Amino acid sequence: MDQSMDISFLAKYDKVIVELGCGDGKLLYRLSNKDENGNTFYLGIEMDPSEYSKSCLLLSNVRCNLLFVNSPFENVIDKLPDYSVDEILSILPHPKYIDREKERFWKPLYRTLLHKIKKNGHLLLITEYTDELFSPVIYDEYTNWKEWIIETFTDLGFCIGKLTEEVPPDYKSKYLDLFSNDQERIKILTLYLSKN
Ligand SMILES: C[S@@+](CC[C@H](N)C(=O)[O-])C[C@H]1O[C@@H](n2cnc3c(N)ncnc32)[C@H](O)[C@@H]1O
Repeated sequence: MDQSMDISFLAKYDKVIVELGCGDGKLLYRLSNKDENGNTFYLGIEMDPSEYSKSCLLLSNVRCNLLFVNSPFENVIDKLPDYSVDEILSILPHPKYIDREKERFWKPLYRTLLHKIKKNGHLLLITEYTDELFSPVIYDEYTNWKEWIIETFTDLGFCIGKLTEEVPPDYKSKYLDLFSNDQERIKILTLYLSKN
């Protein structure tokens, strides 16, 4: 990302929604299109140049409340002031950012995210559980994993709001569509993690 990313949108819009690892950008594009007020700014961050290029094709000259950035999200997040974001979306993050074995690596990121969220804001995390051998999921194992994830995010300082085993209505993305096709082997969990 260029060091001088323009963050003037923070002063121009009432609400800011940031998506981490937004892939081809279609989910954020849909959300921005559904929003009739126009007082929300949508920022999608994606590291993969080819996915980023796809997202840029969605941009229009008419609406300017949607921006895609090709960068590691860590760099962009660092540029945002504390208490500046209403909602952070993390839709099926890469295992590096959610796997149990990698938690020492990713915990600092979520601590930072908590600082960036406004007082009444939240992180919407949609993640998945799969068995190591990719066999059909045993419900008890899924429940253990779910308890672990709840405890981990509570320890990080988040309050667990709504929690569902489904994808929120109207949320569609390349990976959500892929993963939803194999519900026996891939169990989805949606968590609304708030600041208070
Ligand atoms: C499993 S895919 C999910 C993509 C999209 N959210 C979806 O649901 O289709 C994870 C995405 O995160 C991106 N990613 C991984 N680490 C990243 C990072 N540090 N910064 C920005 N993007 C990252 C990957 O390139 C990939 O597009």
